[in-house]
Amino acid sequence: MSTYDRYILPHVINLACGSKPIRYQRKKVVPNAVGRVLEVGMGSGLNLPYYDTDKVDMVWGLEPSEGMREKAQPNLKKSNVNVEWLDLPGEEIPLDNNSADTIVLTFTLCTIPDWQKAMEQMHRVLKPGGKLLFAEHGKAPDKNIQRWQDKIDPYWSKIAGGCHVNRPIAEMISESGFKIRQLESRYLPSTPKVAGFNYWGYADLA
Ligand SMILES: C[S@@+](CC[C@H](N)C(=O)[O-])C[C@H]1O[C@@H](n2cnc3c(N)ncnc32)[C@H](O)[C@@H]1O
Repeated sequence: MSTYDRYILPHVINLACGSKPIRYQRKKVVPNAVGRVLEVGMGSGLNLPYYDTDKVDMVWGLEPSEGMREKAQPNLKKSNVNVEWLDLPGEEIPLDNNSADTIVLTFTLCTIPDWQKAMEQMHRVLKPGGKLLFAEHGKAPDKNIQRWQDKIDPYWSKIAGGCHVNRPIAEMISESGFKIRQLESRYLPSTPKVAGFNYWGYADLA
């Protein structure tokens, strides 16, 4: 791992993911989490303030980056949520089948290298009746923005820790055996359109 990825990137991601429009997106999905929750790519713990501690028993915070887990420490200290770290990637979720009541996936599906495998793992660990809550950025609906997304993606992913701006989030979720029950999308305000088209809602096991 490069010095940039280990020491600088966690600060960059923490800043970018802490913007007001993104905080607003978190508020739309995270409070719906219940029971035993798996958060995939927990990052610097920016979702912690939005969990309803009356409804959540605990959170498995799956996060492969040591730098991100370190960056999460201040947020963990401020939070009453009981978090158990899992220092593995989404492709290798170390939980039993049907063990999570909720999966929280925010601004992470853009980054996971083998996203099909990670989605398979999420499908495996989600309980029947459980929900996959998501808020992600991805492929824009406008052709001219899509062209820009495709152009900048190879450069963007290098500086943004493997994040891709042009992934078709809703299709990726549906193709992975989940049934999307609620889907909303829009360009976020005060955010460049190439990186600011957001999808949010929830899915369950089809
Ligand atoms: C843009 S950050 C978002 C962090 C957090 N989900 C949030 O909403 O603030 C993407 C996160 O995905 C993590 N990540 C990278 N590869 C991953 C993988 N294979 N599986 C799970 N998470 C991964 C990164 O370390 C990073 O913390």
